[in-house]
Amino acid sequence: MNASVSSPSPPRDRRQSRVSIVGAGKVGSTLAQRIAEKNLADVVLLDVVEGWPQGVALDLMQARGLEGHDRQVVGTNDYADTAESDVVVVTAGRPRAPGMDRNDLIKTNAGIVVDAAKRAIERSPDAIFIIVTNPLDVMTYVAWQATQLAPHRIVGMAGVLDSARLQTFISLELGVSTQDVQAMVLGNHGQQMISLPRYCTVKGIPLPELLDAATIDRLAERTRNGGTEIVELMQRGGAYFAPASSIYTMVESILADRSRLVSAAAYLQGEYGIEGLFLGVPCRLGRRGVEQIVELSLTNDERHAIQTSAASVRDNIENAKQVLGWS
Ligand code: 2OP
Repeated sequence: MNASVSSPSPPRDRRQSRVSIVGAGKVGSTLAQRIAEKNLADVVLLDVVEGWPQGVALDLMQARGLEGHDRQVVGTNDYADTAESDVVVVTAGRPRAPGMDRNDLIKTNAGIVVDAAKRAIERSPDAIFIIVTNPLDVMTYVAWQATQLAPHRIVGMAGVLDSARLQTFISLELGVSTQDVQAMVLGNHGQQMISLPRYCTVKGIPLPELLDAATIDRLAERTRNGGTEIVELMQRGGAYFAPASSIYTMVESILADRSRLVSAAAYLQGEYGIEGLFLGVPCRLGRRGVEQIVELSLTNDERHAIQTSAASVRDNIENAKQVLGWS
């Protein structure tokens, strides 16, 4: 058979959605795999390390026939290749080492995130930005300042991950399918995060009707330390599968305009009595980014907890401003 390819591969169809991921570490690479192999969008994977993103992308491309998709996955060190992205995900920066608090990363990560956000927005002025780099709530703020984006077009990924952890711990405790558990975690992605048992359900049954307060507190504490538990176990780096799944959930809701209601770090302008910072709250995510912030009715204790969480983020925003020379 004289099979021959008569023409080069067709030009890229611009109607294809494009997601650029800044940072080709384990989180960014796993996210690239999820987006491509779930056939959601084309992917541009950018990193500062010469050759690394190119190798990861080529590896992912070589799995296309086996995984049943034809998505383009491009690895690059050049922001020009990220042009016209629909969504930009910033994962660049250092992960925690054992014994570190996420806020210890401000000094190393603030400048990286500002640089990444500025260079990405230049080439994708219409993109929705999802920030992942830690400390998440603070890095989302500095990326917002760096890009001057309308607040609804930039959001931080943490609450989806924290809620997924609590969801898993509840399902393991009760011996029920994880899919039948709904969990709600708000506040900052750190020690002041807030699990809301009143808003956690198992097939519609409020969690406090199924577990006693001491057990719920234990699961909430394990959730609060969910990332740390993995960092201590792995010793080098941290979680990446569940973070990648969490980011994918947000990207998919945006690109498919699904209006998923998720916990995410959104810019507050008076909601929950808080303004001027990003914090994990229930958000509806669609093609415009944060379509709506849902304000839950909270008890006095819950409201005090979210105010405490906000105060911690505000303090660390000041730290970041000093590191960046912004104050
Ligand atoms: C975590 O909690 C990496 O902050 C992320 O695992």
